[in-house]
Amino acid sequence: MNSIFDKVIDRSNSASFKWGYNKFVFGTDDILPMWVADMDFQPPAEVADEMKKRLDHGIYGYTYIPNSASDAMINWFMNRHNWKIDQSSIVYHSGVVPAISTAIQAFTEPGDYVMLQSPVYAPFFEMIEKNERVVLNSPLKLVNNRYEMDFEDLEKKLQKGVKLFVLCSPHNPGGRVWTKEELQRVGDLCLQYNCLILSDEIHADHVYKPNVHHPLSALDKKYEEIVLTCVAPSKTFNIAGLQASACIIPTEELKSRYENFQRRTGFHTLNTFGIIAMEAAYRYGESWLEELLSYLHQNVAIAKEFIEENIPSIRLMEPEGTYLLWMDCRDLNMSDEELNKALIEKGKLGLEPGSKYGAGGEGFVRMNIGCSQEVLLEGLERLKRALA
Ligand SMILES: Cc1ncc(COP(=O)(O)O)c(C=O)c1O
Repeated sequence: MNSIFDKVIDRSNSASFKWGYNKFVFGTDDILPMWVADMDFQPPAEVADEMKKRLDHGIYGYTYIPNSASDAMINWFMNRHNWKIDQSSIVYHSGVVPAISTAIQAFTEPGDYVMLQSPVYAPFFEMIEKNERVVLNSPLKLVNNRYEMDFEDLEKKLQKGVKLFVLCSPHNPGGRVWTKEELQRVGDLCLQYNCLILSDEIHADHVYKPNVHHPLSALDKKYEEIVLTCVAPSKTFNIAGLQASACIIPTEELKSRYENFQRRTGFHTLNTFGIIAMEAAYRYGESWLEELLSYLHQNVAIAKEFIEENIPSIRLMEPEGTYLLWMDCRDLNMSDEELNKALIEKGKLGLEPGSKYGAGGEGFVRMNIGCSQEVLLEGLERLKRALA
């Protein structure tokens, strides 16, 4: 065993969505789950150590978020992303999805357009539609098996009067880490058309060299006027169940409007253990993350080689970031139903169907490789059995 991430941990009795919901999602329990975006790894040891200390205290009353937790987060973003976050711009929330919903309510009216770029993380659509706003899609372009933004289309859509654009940066499911130039073009266009950007940067820390994640808000002071950024330790350190995230809103006016809408839900702080875990992860998690990134990068290479050798009819979109593999299965000429049926019945493998991610996702599947290499190889064998 060479890496801490080689250890296979049984998650079946931990009320894990990924490991406990297979019958509900796929109709059968004998599935290897590689769908929901959490990893099968324990977070940095200090996260459990600090939570145990707090657990042993024995009293779990209302808890405020101490400055030390914000400081740990601020230092993390300065060190890792060269982004200076002002403490006064931080608004905590129990998740990025609820933060997106709050922003939609705060900055748009029912019936307004909210823009996104499909294929993209499915709850973006859901939050827009459930809040009775209208999805305005500027689809990504597939160029040489890699997504690019369609700036001409983006501008046409902005001319329709869009108040809010939900940007996924880095991109789930395509694994794109948007370049500085791409982000500047987005920022400039949105400034020109007076459109706010909710930049969902939850995947910011999972980026493979030489790619670099650029927080949009940090690229130029002028973007601070229109950008709200969602960040979280949940993907980075695999602590999604602890439900801690933050929205960074440098402009006082936008921040107070956002907070006002957030307060309407009665939300005012994070849960006790979420706060402890967030602080410990950001304070102590850097060497753990470096080891993780190297392991995940190996996983990408293993999957790429396996697929090229054994399932050449599908095309892997090599991710620049994230632990999510987006695979183009369109050459198999199977409908999405046939594809899913083959994966579940022949492969006994649980993947995310691409159609969940909106237009352009049809004929694709998403595989989560945030797992040990033993499990990854088993998953790839099952993929081969299903599709080769
Ligand atoms: C782009 C993106 N945003 C948000 C989330 C979920 O965020 P949260 O669990 O904090 O609501 C995910 C989870 O996969 C995601 O990929």
